Amino acid sequence: MPIPFVEPFRIKVVEPIRQTTRQERVQILQDAHHNLFGVPAEDVFIDLLTDSGTNAMSDRQWSAMMQGDEAYAGARSFGRFEQAVQEIMGFPHVLPTHQGRGAEGVLFQTLVQAGQSVPNNRHFDTTQANLLALGAHPVDLAVDAASDPQVQLPFKGNMDLDKLARFIETTGVENIPLGMLTITNNSAAGQPVSMENIRQVSALYREHHIPFFMDACRFAENAWFIQQREPGYEERSVREIALEMLSYADGCTMSAKKDAIVNIGGFLACRDETLKLRFSEKLIVREGFPTYGGLAGRDLEAIAVGLHEGTDEAYLAYRESHTRYLADVLAQAGLAVYRPTGGHAVYVDAAQTLPHIPPEQFPGVALANALYVEGGVRTVEIGSLMFSSEDPATGAFIPAPNELVRFAIPRRVYTRSHLDYVGEAAAALAAKAEQIRGLKITWAPELLKHFIARLDWVA
Ligand code: F0G
Repeated sequence: MPIPFVEPFRIKVVEPIRQTTRQERVQILQDAHHNLFGVPAEDVFIDLLTDSGTNAMSDRQWSAMMQGDEAYAGARSFGRFEQAVQEIMGFPHVLPTHQGRGAEGVLFQTLVQAGQSVPNNRHFDTTQANLLALGAHPVDLAVDAASDPQVQLPFKGNMDLDKLARFIETTGVENIPLGMLTITNNSAAGQPVSMENIRQVSALYREHHIPFFMDACRFAENAWFIQQREPGYEERSVREIALEMLSYADGCTMSAKKDAIVNIGGFLACRDETLKLRFSEKLIVREGFPTYGGLAGRDLEAIAVGLHEGTDEAYLAYRESHTRYLADVLAQAGLAVYRPTGGHAVYVDAAQTLPHIPPEQFPGVALANALYVEGGVRTVEIGSLMFSSEDPATGAFIPAPNELVRFAIPRRVYTRSHLDYVGEAAAALAAKAEQIRGLKITWAPELLKHFIARLDWVA
């Protein structure tokens, strides 16, 4: 039997995980108000809530951490971190931040005024919230195919160029302080963006003198997909592709918790020194001095090594196969899987899997709850709990573009038998899909409601 993939690493340290009983899990969910963010991690058997900061670091990263220089200013570790960002991503200037949203905060506080609009293929939740908190408007302009869980296209993360051109024309350049592009497109099922699309988005922003910042959290996975799927790039290395992709932008925000394979950290990078100084002013108030930005020296060391490991092609080949394997396992179990599979996660179409639950009863949350009960597997809804809104005039419920459940895969953490186990839990769930009920919100905050909302079953 041909094996689907083999891990390009061996295990040196293990962390025991504990299975709970079904009865315990029903109680745990109730105590958590049916919000999986409220479930203690030790009560989760397989944790696919996020790929962010949940990665296993390598022996090289751990040993680099011992060399952390913890000086407040000008630490040697900053030099190594800066050199890695310059070498792998090509930006001359970089400011560390505590994580990706710290970089977003500094970027937007520096450039964005209330009432202005920022276009993106799709903003992720924290990017969206950072703009809303400033009174600005995040605008999503992904291609329509991004919302189609079945159509087989190589780059469903792309920006819709017609929509973007129209948006710039109707909004007016003076109301667009910067433009963004998220690679890969996390809110659209982790779909990649093509080099062709990056080039054209960049040209459009440049034509209108709109500064262009990429949300580069998963830039290595995006580069891998370009090498695998885009004609003309088959023979180019992932590192060359990454440098070309990022060369079209004026800067980027980065959550190192993703493709730099660490547990904490992020950065804001750019080409223009004046802009870097403006960012530094904001950074010092909120994150820290520009050579540490809210991180320890040892964190900077781990990121420097992780940027190299995250762009290693043997690792990326395994990463994609591993994710695709989970997609196949879930499809076989009877769940409606979004295709093609992205890099960091498998997305299940909850609307199709649970067609009897309407969007206002959060089919994604219902599915995630049911999966936890079946097997202690934790996933996250990326649907109407996260992204629905209200019509400002009528107060009517506007659902998210898709009702997805994301099975995010921590890097280098779970083996194939862990994925097979997730498949078994999914099959048990699929067998009783029609009995699964929808949920209603009993309490929620204004912004980022999915993190701490409380829910209960509908009668
Ligand atoms: N941009 C994207 C596309 C992201 O996926 C995330 C985080 C961020 C920005 C913010 O980075 O967490 O370091 O502050 N996404 C995580 C997730 C939380 O689960 O997808 P952060």
